[in-house]
Amino acid sequence: MPKITINGRACEFKPGQLILQVANEATIDVPQYCYHDGLSVVASCRICLAEVWMPDAKTGKLAPYMGGKLMPTCQTACMDGMVVYTDSPKAVANQKAVMEYLLINHPLDCPVCDQAGECHLQDYSYEYGRGQSRFEETKVKNPKKDVGPNIYLYSDRCIMCTRCVRFTREVSGTGELCVAGRGNREEIDVFPGLALDNELAGNVVDLCPVGALLDKDFLFAQRVWFLKETPSIDGLTASGDNISIHHNDGKIYRFKPRTNMSVNKWWITDEVRFGWRFVHSDQRLNGPTRKQFGTAVLAEWPRAISEAHSGLRHVVASGKRIAVMVSPMLSCEDAYWLGRAAQAIDPKAFLAVGPVPTQGADKVFPPNAKPDDAKAFVVSGEKAPNARGVRRVLGALSKAGPHNGYVASFEQLIGQLRSGEIGGVIITGNYPTAWATRELMDALSGKFVVVMDTLTSELASRADVLLPSATWCEKAGTFENWRGMLQAFEAAIPVHEGARPEAQVALDLLRADGRGDVPALYNASDTRRHAASSVPELSPLVSDVRMPGVSIEQTADMEVVEL
Ligand code: SF4
Ligand code: FES
Repeated sequence: MPKITINGRACEFKPGQLILQVANEATIDVPQYCYHDGLSVVASCRICLAEVWMPDAKTGKLAPYMGGKLMPTCQTACMDGMVVYTDSPKAVANQKAVMEYLLINHPLDCPVCDQAGECHLQDYSYEYGRGQSRFEETKVKNPKKDVGPNIYLYSDRCIMCTRCVRFTREVSGTGELCVAGRGNREEIDVFPGLALDNELAGNVVDLCPVGALLDKDFLFAQRVWFLKETPSIDGLTASGDNISIHHNDGKIYRFKPRTNMSVNKWWITDEVRFGWRFVHSDQRLNGPTRKQFGTAVLAEWPRAISEAHSGLRHVVASGKRIAVMVSPMLSCEDAYWLGRAAQAIDPKAFLAVGPVPTQGADKVFPPNAKPDDAKAFVVSGEKAPNARGVRRVLGALSKAGPHNGYVASFEQLIGQLRSGEIGGVIITGNYPTAWATRELMDALSGKFVVVMDTLTSELASRADVLLPSATWCEKAGTFENWRGMLQAFEAAIPVHEGARPEAQVALDLLRADGRGDVPALYNASDTRRHAASSVPELSPLVSDVRMPGVSIEQTADMEVVEL
């Protein structure tokens, strides 16, 4: 493989790769603002410039490339034998000059800026800045603008890298943003009459290397250094987008995308970015209830579990069957223990998947891209994260039982409930909004109903036993996305007070049924192993699950100097 040397390190490259791409892959620190892997190259910020040398074709001796001009590493293709310095005196002098130039009009408002702590301008000014400004004239003050329903633009912080403009032109294809004006009056703006309002708009906040584009939802909500990050998976759609949940003290503050070139590339939709609000809704169910003379009364967990179990057992003893409806919002692990619990209570239990919400067809970005293009970002029209995983697990359990792999749809479940063959049902929800249909409510008439859900609803009020459950941010598990990719996620925040993960409730039901061989406490990876060893069809839950990558990189902000 051909090689270049960057700051003394030999690096292999693929033909066509740019110097900055190779440096980034090799984690060689090269300052950069305007470059982004997902956008076109404009080489406008000039901070990545490097001294480049090439071996002479005849003598083989190193000679300055392109007459010794500093070259933008984000725009210069690698050539075999190239020697690159981004830490030579000439390159460093350029970095310092660019920083001084960028800071001329930049306000010194880091203490009140949301980006402080994760700002490239702040980081590079520590490394290349002067510490004191030589600028004596009055700074240009560009305005703050409300550019869209979720985004503010603080133009005076902008360094004109144009990442945001290129994103709206090249990825979302909506083109709301433009560069208006010239020289030091140049600023980013929305076209007259347009708002930055497209389904990917929030990505410009992540792209902005400084605090110019701000998420209204996160504005002044939390200092970033207090936030902990938990890698997770989009729990709202079948896209399986890789996300980081940023949280502190048990409260979620924001979602950010995690780069995964096999799934979401660098992006997430606003639907995923802001879809977590129901996790902290004041409509969350706060504790189990049971019906007493037709009225719901609060119950301790052991009492509620015992009532749910004995009610379902009573149904089976009366000669009727029970059913379990596993929501596609639940994980494979939840589905596994719920299916096992239902089959333990009634070996002929009817297994069904809950309603799978959809909103139109899948969308591909950039417009005109094909779903399998290297940079294509696909937004699934299916608005549930794990319909395939739930079907996979229930199908495997059903094969082991009398139904030969049959898993009913929501509509088939309603048909069965109406037929009168089923006397009791476990219903799980965990959707971000009200979901139970009138048909379901009517079909539940006269049945013993155990509901596991997160939000108050007519269905929750109807439950004979109501067991509040945990959202995906509060538990670990696995989702299977629309491509059939199994991805594991971890719990980011503690379970909402008074709630339990559905898998834990299912284990409690199993133990109430006298199955002492199941674990008392739910653990996602133990569940996957258990499932794979007891049901051979579920071995992909061990062999094919992709775990979130863990970064153990630590960098010091400043060099520690011994005094
Ligand atoms: S607003 Fe941010 S992303 Fe857009 S050009 Fe300015 S600095 Fe770059
Ligand atoms: S990152 Fe190379 S010029 Fe901006």
